[in-house]
Amino acid sequence: MSFDLVLFGGTGDLAWRKLMPALFQAFRHGSLPEGGRIIGIARDDLSDAQYRELIRSRFDAVDLAKRPTPEEFERFAGLLHFVRLDLSQPKDYQNLASMLRERRADTVVMYLATAPNLFATCVQQLAAAGLNRPNTRLVLEKPLGHDLESNRAINEAVRKVFPEKQIFRIDHYLGKPAVQNLFAMRFGNAVFEPVWRREHISNIQITIAEELGVEKRGAFYDQTGALRDMVQNHALQLLCAIAMEPPINAHADAIRDEKLKVLRSLKPWTPEMLDQHVVRGQYAGGVINGQPAPAYREEPGVDPESNTETFVALRADISSWRWAGVPFYIRTGKRLAEREAHIVVNFREAPHAIFNAPPGATNRLVIHLQPRDGLEMHMLAQGQDNRRSNGHTLTPVHLDLDFDKRFGSERVGAYERLLLDVIAGRLNLFVRSDEQEEAWRWVEPIMEHWGNDTRGPRPYAAGTWGPSASSAMIARDGFCWAEEC
Ligand code: BG6
Repeated sequence: MSFDLVLFGGTGDLAWRKLMPALFQAFRHGSLPEGGRIIGIARDDLSDAQYRELIRSRFDAVDLAKRPTPEEFERFAGLLHFVRLDLSQPKDYQNLASMLRERRADTVVMYLATAPNLFATCVQQLAAAGLNRPNTRLVLEKPLGHDLESNRAINEAVRKVFPEKQIFRIDHYLGKPAVQNLFAMRFGNAVFEPVWRREHISNIQITIAEELGVEKRGAFYDQTGALRDMVQNHALQLLCAIAMEPPINAHADAIRDEKLKVLRSLKPWTPEMLDQHVVRGQYAGGVINGQPAPAYREEPGVDPESNTETFVALRADISSWRWAGVPFYIRTGKRLAEREAHIVVNFREAPHAIFNAPPGATNRLVIHLQPRDGLEMHMLAQGQDNRRSNGHTLTPVHLDLDFDKRFGSERVGAYERLLLDVIAGRLNLFVRSDEQEEAWRWVEPIMEHWGNDTRGPRPYAAGTWGPSASSAMIARDGFCWAEEC
């Protein structure tokens, strides 16, 4: 199957950091279909040879194990082409169209790794140049808008030109092997489903912690903040994966219908909930890995009086028979104590205690997303101490399944998985417009509340787990974050 992958933003950050390395890995492992072209698009004046050279030089920043040898790069470079295109110039799209027509690939992928305010113009121009044919797939990178209204405007503009089944909205968290294993765990094994409900689960915690600050994206991030950057998309997609009902099959719409139901069941915010169940923070200076780290407001591109949040902790409630009364806590932030993403499912206490157990020791399933990828089941067992305690005292232990050890760490990365799925036309790991809109609808009251709240975000020292109000929020319900219990 031949394909042309047209990469708008072909000289941009995402292309260098994620897409080219992912495409190269797919090429190296022979999973990229034969007969493909990767066509970088940008306003620069570059020949194919210059573009190839640019990409080759960028691979120097990639981990050694994932870097091509000179021979490998030479073969990979054969796929790479460059087309100069100004997004507002119709004649440039005509040139692209004639280049694509020369070959008539079976599949054409238009990957828009550009600023989202350019999406609408770009898709209109693609259509005007006849580039929205049935064999064309459109990939949209996040952020898709800034709020519900701008998200809808993009979705409407795009749907005028491409039917939904040709639109691939990326949330790269869905491409992570750990997230696919979460689906496998829940819907490929019978043992979890009977206990996956309010009768057995007391609370669920989703943490996506980053050690990095805003890096070179200060100006963008200052207009965005953690709620839009991480919660509206990645964290809510994880919440859907953990809370959804079993889908009727593994087809894209069956899965997306169930995720949508979760988003629709999120309890709407009341003023009291906004006050009690949401914490926003912003990093002050601190020390990360023994190195001093600047405060957010000192980062390049950031307004020195900025109130943009770099941390969010919140409690979500799902109004359904399965989940009524089970709080879902979400926490994400930059410059936190470590890079760590996990989901913790806390089970209820044994209904009748015949042993002595450490206080608060209950069963807990930890789904590790990164940096390690695995499952940990925390349980209680007879430990070494049972000679002294007559066997009545239990000790916490855990079963540990490490997917990297089990399957090797050379598994397909998130972007590689997603790019291969786009080329193959598999929509399962992509987000439908109604899911996105529902997620925006749910986070909007938080944005409005913060807009009217002059107190601003709570400062937290870089290298910690965020403001203490985050622990206080969960403690009010009688729980604690995993690292505090
Ligand atoms: C992106 C956000 O979507 O996800 C970034 O824009 C964030 O701010 C990144 O750093 C986190 O992704 P990962 O895969 O490194 O956890």
